[in-house]
Amino acid sequence: MMARQRRRSRPVSEFLSGMDAQGCVGGVSLVDLVAEFGSPLYVYDGDAIRGQFRAYLAHGLPRELQLHFAMKANSNLAILRLLAAEGAGFDIVSGGELARVLQAGGDAAQVVFSGVAKSDAEMQAALAAGIGCFNVESAAELQCLAEVASAMGKVAPVALRVNPDVDAKTHPYISTGMRENKFGVALEDAPALYRWAAVQPSLRVVGVGCHIGSQIRSLAPFLQAADSVLTLADALVAEGIALGHVDLGGGLGIETADDFMALTPADLSRALLERVGERPLRLHLQPGRSLVGNAGLLLSQVVFRKSQSGRDFLMLDAAMNDYVRPALYQVRPSLVNVSRPYDGVSRMDVVGPVCESSDTFARDFPICGERGDVVVIPGTGAYGFSMASNYNSRPRPAEVLIEGGQARLIRRRETFADLWAQEVL
Ligand code: LLP
Repeated sequence: MMARQRRRSRPVSEFLSGMDAQGCVGGVSLVDLVAEFGSPLYVYDGDAIRGQFRAYLAHGLPRELQLHFAMKANSNLAILRLLAAEGAGFDIVSGGELARVLQAGGDAAQVVFSGVAKSDAEMQAALAAGIGCFNVESAAELQCLAEVASAMGKVAPVALRVNPDVDAKTHPYISTGMRENKFGVALEDAPALYRWAAVQPSLRVVGVGCHIGSQIRSLAPFLQAADSVLTLADALVAEGIALGHVDLGGGLGIETADDFMALTPADLSRALLERVGERPLRLHLQPGRSLVGNAGLLLSQVVFRKSQSGRDFLMLDAAMNDYVRPALYQVRPSLVNVSRPYDGVSRMDVVGPVCESSDTFARDFPICGERGDVVVIPGTGAYGFSMASNYNSRPRPAEVLIEGGQARLIRRRETFADLWAQEVL
């Protein structure tokens, strides 16, 4: 109740990824960025990303915590390099993500490989690179990895990703730790698989892990999952199967206009470290969204406005291909027109130019705007550009990183020629 009241009383601008009342991030004017780099444009605040990373480590306990950034949230090389310099490892889910980490200069030994269906080629590439851990999700994968590693004369470091059957109380599309989800190995099957893995010459058991979902707002599901995984770890150790780490995944939510977050990164890491307690296990986490989500904004410009059949539409140059989360998960971003103060009365449907009604960012939203105004979609640093597509043959946006008051281009805007560069006539 308290949280709800507090949330309602906070001005929308507080949700805006460090944007001040003048429409600046880190001292850089967003309107100027659009003038320089065009729109739509993704903008990231590097200092905010570092701040979130360090917040996880500010747990105040004399224990070590290793973070592997779930790079599916944002895989731009400059962001990966920034986080690698902070000491982050990376949680990958594909051969493409591994290639990106290596291209960014990341340390393969600090890479963990999640994913339900790793191909032989992906396993081979990860073994050749010398990654830190394969998070194995099935008996079939475990056997296949043992064979692939053996054929290469390598020993694969493995952890089982178990499915602790915990309801993360989040959107069903991003809930991953329930019995009916496709992810992980059932808890009851894990001991036999560990016994098998422990005697394979091409496998080295290094840990155990889980990941229960995304945009999680409370501590309880994390603790429930931790308890299940730690109980399993204790049983394995009692059998003589030693583990080096426990990986409790990612999933911490970020604050949005609809979701007040009382749980901070430091609260989460402290609580989980306390749960691990005196066990000789290192704690690993795989945060994605919470490191970069609120450090990113999507800037767009108003193309037109129109009124018809009793509704007012504000049409942006950004669309569902640039930022798909409203269409896919029904999130409703808290938009701000940084070119014009709100008139206090207008309510508009804010839409993009793509030919689908699902290309709608907000309905009946308190905003006004005119052609050329810059509209900010905050909270888009995670699963924004990384989920962008070329639907409707729209080139994907440019990306800019602000650090120490300076903005620099970290990905140029795609051209029309980029759209068909791989095609053959
Ligand atoms: N580790 C694993 C194994 C994962 O599958 C994920 C996310 C993470 C870590 C990071 O979770 P995070 O800290 O970002 O919540 N596209 C969706 C989110 C999908 C998340 C999938 N897995 C969205 O836009 O909401």
